[in-house]
Amino acid sequence: MRKKVTIVGAGNVGATAAHWIASKELADVVLIDVVEGIPQGKGLDLLEAMPIAKTDCHIVGTNDYTITANSDIVVITAGIPRKPGMSRDDLLQTNYKIMSDVVGKVTANSPNCILIIVSNPLDAMAQAAFRQAKFNRERVIGMAGVLDSARFRTFIAEELNVSVENVTAFVLGGHGDTMVPLTRYSTVAGIPITELIPKDRLDVIVQRTRDGGAEIVKYLKTGSAYYAPSAATVEMVEAILKDKKKILPCAAYLEGEYGISGYYIGVPCKLGTRGIEQIIEIKLTAEEDAALKKSAAAVKELCAVIGV
Ligand code: LAC
Repeated sequence: MRKKVTIVGAGNVGATAAHWIASKELADVVLIDVVEGIPQGKGLDLLEAMPIAKTDCHIVGTNDYTITANSDIVVITAGIPRKPGMSRDDLLQTNYKIMSDVVGKVTANSPNCILIIVSNPLDAMAQAAFRQAKFNRERVIGMAGVLDSARFRTFIAEELNVSVENVTAFVLGGHGDTMVPLTRYSTVAGIPITELIPKDRLDVIVQRTRDGGAEIVKYLKTGSAYYAPSAATVEMVEAILKDKKKILPCAAYLEGEYGISGYYIGVPCKLGTRGIEQIIEIKLTAEEDAALKKSAAAVKELCAVIGV
């Protein structure tokens, strides 16, 4: 039997994630949204593309949570996106209300699922979902590091005119202005980028990575990025469904790792069937450690506002 993935939120991120999942033939997909007609229309449209895509995934759009029952993974993208000039943090109160409502319905229908949280502000929303779902921390994972690292990899590949496949990069910390692109652990064909790109250029690339989401919002004006965010989400979905034991930067609930306790923050995680199967602790320099702690403090501040 094929696996079942529910995507909550039939907006651009949700629908595009459904598209990537179906085109990779990873699972059957339920696309659910409060808006009537949109998930049904997008779901049916995508289903009708399957003969051409040559995959047999079944896709259905609905407003009814009973259709989502017994999903293996539930991806939550529901919430409002940013408009130009807004930070991710400006979405806090509105998206927290939406998240609380959604998590209750999702967990009632799929008590054994793994939750992947995509709504912003990411780390605080992951924390809110974790508190409400009362799942173990292995099963509530935030998506952001894969996206931020993909942006970082894109800019490195462009700078050096090399294949994106040659570039590995790591971005840790919260998904916000305080994120921590780790240049020391980023390589091109195994060569540290610090040996290939001069510091002043690297600083520009790091800053562009931090501002990557805002750069797209500025162009789109009416919403935020969705191709890269949904592709990043689906890389996590695939790692879990195929039990790949893939190490990816994800927002995870820390219990002492990196000297942080009781908060979601982006760190390297091994993803497999059980969700987060291991949190990898890498040795940070004093400067990197300070940047991660600063990022955690920003997450903590947001969590305090909504009391999670
Ligand atoms: C971004 C938003 C979705 O980084 O957080 O594009």
